[in-house]
Amino acid sequence: MKRTLEEHAARFDDVAGEYDDSQNDTGEYRACVSLVVEHADPGPDETVVDLGTGTGAIALALADEAGEVVGRDISEGMMERAREKADSQGIDNVAFGEGRFREPNVDSADVVVSNFAMHHLGDEEKREAIEAIAGLGPRKFVLGDVMFFGEPDPDEPFYSPEVDDPSTVGHLADALTDAGFALTAVERVHDQVGVLVAERGASGNE
Ligand SMILES: C[S@@+](CC[C@H](N)C(=O)[O-])C[C@H]1O[C@@H](n2cnc3c(N)ncnc32)[C@H](O)[C@@H]1O
Repeated sequence: MKRTLEEHAARFDDVAGEYDDSQNDTGEYRACVSLVVEHADPGPDETVVDLGTGTGAIALALADEAGEVVGRDISEGMMERAREKADSQGIDNVAFGEGRFREPNVDSADVVVSNFAMHHLGDEEKREAIEAIAGLGPRKFVLGDVMFFGEPDPDEPFYSPEVDDPSTVGHLADALTDAGFALTAVERVHDQVGVLVAERGASGNE
């Protein structure tokens, strides 16, 4: 991780008010949100956990389909905005609270999702996070994020080396399979952005 958790939290607290407008400007971000929501596809009795939920883009989009959605983040400012959005949209089956990738502060999940957040962790930290996610017992984990399909290129969008630490798709695939998931879909949105779908029980690997 290129910054401490506290530094990342403070950075996102500072931009929480403008975050939605700035992100929605990029087609790749919107594509990633759509793909994560589409692949998550929770059932009406299922609990979804959204890690690095931010202002709740994914959590709120899944609330209608899921039984319950739990959003976790380290930035109180981002989650305050998410709570305001839930209130204004009349959504009452979503709860936001403090939690980290490696300590999600939840007991279990049917589906885990994460969008544009895990790239703040280094390679080994992502492995630990994926193990923690597997420990929640989900049938599916959908990860949308900055990830390298080719060579890292800081001149391309989405990757700022001073704050970001994206992994290669190969590293993420290895960490997911080592944690007992089978990779069932890989969506390349951009050479530095993608969505991975990892499932358990899909090919007998539980
Ligand atoms: C770019 S925002 C993405 C928010 C949201 N998922 C979306 O798609 O719009 C990244 C979020 O990840 C959170 N974050 C960064 N590191 C984290 C960690 N270790 N555990 C939990 N959340 C983290 C930040 O606070 C921030 O809200």
